[in-house]
Amino acid sequence: MLSVAIDGPAGVGKSTVSKLLAKKLGWNCLDTGALYRAFTVKCLELNVDFESDISIVEASKKIKIFVKYIGGTQHTFANGKDMTSFLRTEQVDKLVPIISKVKEVRQSIVKLQREIATQENVVVEGRDIGSVVLKDSVNKFFLTASPEIRAKRRFDERTAKGEKVDFLTILTDISKRDKLDTERKTSPLLQAKDAILVDTDNLSIEQVVEKIFENVKV
Ligand code: DC
Repeated sequence: MLSVAIDGPAGVGKSTVSKLLAKKLGWNCLDTGALYRAFTVKCLELNVDFESDISIVEASKKIKIFVKYIGGTQHTFANGKDMTSFLRTEQVDKLVPIISKVKEVRQSIVKLQREIATQENVVVEGRDIGSVVLKDSVNKFFLTASPEIRAKRRFDERTAKGEKVDFLTILTDISKRDKLDTERKTSPLLQAKDAILVDTDNLSIEQVVEKIFENVKV
């Protein structure tokens, strides 16, 4: 099976780019952040103590995540319940970095990602795809953009949805998540040595997709 690994920090546009790229290739797209998010939503339902790694590890034994594509769109389930519409809340944004630094949680989610990638051709986007999950993929890309540009994109996205948001709060959140994602011990956000770096600061979404598409080996 073939894969494309797309990594990069929060708000760099991985998700939009990966979906468009997958469409162009005629493949599915796996948003791996959604798996950590679904796990987090389930932990909230189970009243897990987020300050205790032991509680999180205990909960992880009871949580089963799986993914189903419905009409080409990823739906992420936890213990049989479709969590897709609960994944992108501020509460989940805040708690998911805590969950995603727990080794046992990562192990089970990484296993699931690898299973999916052996079943079909897929574009996989995340933080550790090229460096850990799909180390052997021949197609690895690492997207970057300055924190200010990423915050501006997120601000515009949320404002367009009618949400009332504060630019500085978004910028601070992005910087905090960068710190957590790059400094965690297990699978930190890291550019794989053989990944192609794509600086998206001055590129449109279409230009980023084109740049990656041109370099994909199929
Ligand atoms: O891409 P996102 O914002 O949906 O990711 C949510 C969180 O999950 C983020 O804090 C980092 C974590 N994550 C990760 O550790 N590894 C991945 N492959 C994808 C996401």
